[in-house]
Amino acid sequence: MTNNQEVLLTIESQDYALVFQTNPARHLKHIYFGKKLAHAGDYSAIKAQLKYDHFNGVDEDHFNSVYTPSGTWNTANTALELKHHDGNESTELEYVKHSTKEIEKDVVLTTIELVDPLYGTVVNLYLKVYQAFNVFEQWTSILNKEPDTVQMKKYASANLYFRNREFHLTQFHGTWAREMNDHTQVLSYGTKVLETKLGTRANLYNPPSFQLSFDGPATEDTGKVMLANLAWSGNFRFEFEIERYGNLRLIAGINPYASNYALKAGEEFETPHLIYTYSETGIATATIQMHRWARQHRIWNGHGERLTLLNNWEATYFDFDEDKLVDLFKGAKEIGVDCFLLDDGWFANKYPRNDDTTGLGDWEVNKTKLPNGIPFLVKAAKAEGVKFGIWIEPEMVNPKSALYENHLDWVIRQPERPEVYFRNQLVLDLSNPEVQDYVFSIFNNLLTENPEIAYVKWDCNAVIYNAYSAYLEREGIPQSHLYVAYVKGLYEVLKRVRAGHPKVPIMLCSGGGGRVDYGALQYYTEFWPSDNTSPIDRVFMHWNYSKLYPANTLCAHVTDWDKTASLKFRTDVACMGKLGFDIDVSKLTTAEKSFCQIALKDYNRYKHTVWNGDVYRIQHPDELHFASFLFVDPSQKQAVLFAYMVTNRFEINYSFEPVKLKGLDPMKKYQVKELNIFPETETALDESVILSGDLLMKAGFNPQVSSERKSVVVLISEAD
Ligand code: DGJ
Repeated sequence: MTNNQEVLLTIESQDYALVFQTNPARHLKHIYFGKKLAHAGDYSAIKAQLKYDHFNGVDEDHFNSVYTPSGTWNTANTALELKHHDGNESTELEYVKHSTKEIEKDVVLTTIELVDPLYGTVVNLYLKVYQAFNVFEQWTSILNKEPDTVQMKKYASANLYFRNREFHLTQFHGTWAREMNDHTQVLSYGTKVLETKLGTRANLYNPPSFQLSFDGPATEDTGKVMLANLAWSGNFRFEFEIERYGNLRLIAGINPYASNYALKAGEEFETPHLIYTYSETGIATATIQMHRWARQHRIWNGHGERLTLLNNWEATYFDFDEDKLVDLFKGAKEIGVDCFLLDDGWFANKYPRNDDTTGLGDWEVNKTKLPNGIPFLVKAAKAEGVKFGIWIEPEMVNPKSALYENHLDWVIRQPERPEVYFRNQLVLDLSNPEVQDYVFSIFNNLLTENPEIAYVKWDCNAVIYNAYSAYLEREGIPQSHLYVAYVKGLYEVLKRVRAGHPKVPIMLCSGGGGRVDYGALQYYTEFWPSDNTSPIDRVFMHWNYSKLYPANTLCAHVTDWDKTASLKFRTDVACMGKLGFDIDVSKLTTAEKSFCQIALKDYNRYKHTVWNGDVYRIQHPDELHFASFLFVDPSQKQAVLFAYMVTNRFEINYSFEPVKLKGLDPMKKYQVKELNIFPETETALDESVILSGDLLMKAGFNPQVSSERKSVVVLISEAD
């Protein structure tokens, strides 16, 4: 409490603080966001320094509400819009109480109760701080205390306020095979919106992530910056509103589009969680904080082992049989990957899955291609010395399938309108518990019948068109629940999957990177960033994905997508993610085969540094003609440097300057060794020198990338 009995609420991480305070009307306001103050007592002096206009009467500072209601005093963007049981559309929220609890070591949860004095609606704001990582997780619950249903028109997860200047918003955008491009703009007065309405595969065009820098642009090493992600695999909306004082209001949550939610009397709704990390020392620090948090607290088996793969998608597409697969197993063994992954096309008999127009939904093994079923394949792979993994796309259906014929009411479609397809398919209605059971059974049956299946790729290719659920209609639930109920249904299935099958790694795929967020990654070990595996494109994508997601989640396969790049270049790029191959090994030359063997052996030496170390984006591919990334093990004993030529422009093209390394121990001495050397070639590096961390970071190191050495991988290890 402050002297005038206003409540002061300080939420601190290791380095930063978020401070709220009530005003005389008991409205809770954002007072401060930034570096922690040295003296805790000083927070109470902040509010007196804020002298906002009083001419608008009711509230002296209505832009900085901690959760902005609608229909009363507010005139800015809202966090909460309700239509009460009696039709009244005004809501007021007053602070009632809060509590703070350390729920595990260094993780503190603050719960703040706000109540509408007229209707009794309870809004709880939750702020979980992972102190050591400077990561904040924020969400809201809304409890209906009225005698009848309340219509929730907008129900944001978080409502933040930043008193700074010059906000640089970096959004990520794209489409199939062009995922995760970045675009930065300086926000100006008014509202900039980032959102999706696609339902499933929801972030095909806009992932629910952003980077925001304050008081000017941030660089990797300087500036104030936030990285954020809404942990929600469905429709989202971020509103960035610069109000008339020039400050930024951020409202983040489920997209209210077509999503009025009828909250029954006594019912409580919990929003998705917004996850953000903040740094005043540049983007690299924010990334490291996010990655360390994600591995520790979010990603399924975040610190665990990952399997290197040989996937058959690009090698065969739908055209394979048992013999072909067994040959591929041999190839997998020969180059030395851990696991073979059988992709699309292995199922359906009435409408065999020989292309993407038929069979989706009919999850019995195709008898023509695979007469001996999955058990035979698991055994045959084992006999070759590799594990076996399998692809499924359980949320979807082709109209040409027995599933569609037998369970039309399980399909999301408008019964009276022509169907609209995305990749010739439709989406199953996961709001329906029967459909949830079915989707779960696909996974569960495969793994129960074949307990040795060691890996699953879970795909999701279609967006929702003609949003209509026969189930919701039957149950008398409004159709406007569908988008939300879909995601909640999906998470129910995934919870059951994980309860039954905690060990198996699962790749999150959505026709490439159409669904990547920290909601889904609670259940998945990794994700497929894009079907585009051109190494140059992947360097750019990796740059942006790596801001939010650690390398152990970023699946990177060597394929023939871009044959203009050498096998070495393609492999070197894939080595800075979770490595896999999507090629027919029998088609490689002897030298190429031995190169793959070398690369996999080398990868096994440093993969833990890539997966669990800190990533530094050293040289942006747009800045010079080469790009560079560095991964440093937390012990600072090992680091791996990747450098890639990213343009063919200019005749004389080489790294004329060293790159300055980061994150090493300045006092340690290091030796360098080039890895992934193609047979019959030699390193250009002098590997006999011992270099101090201090030198490597201040003066730098030249990987000697050039037109002749288009990609270079260097292991940097503490000298004995
Ligand atoms: C889309 C995925 O992104 C691809 O990797 C592949 O699994 C195909 N689907 C299979 O249909």
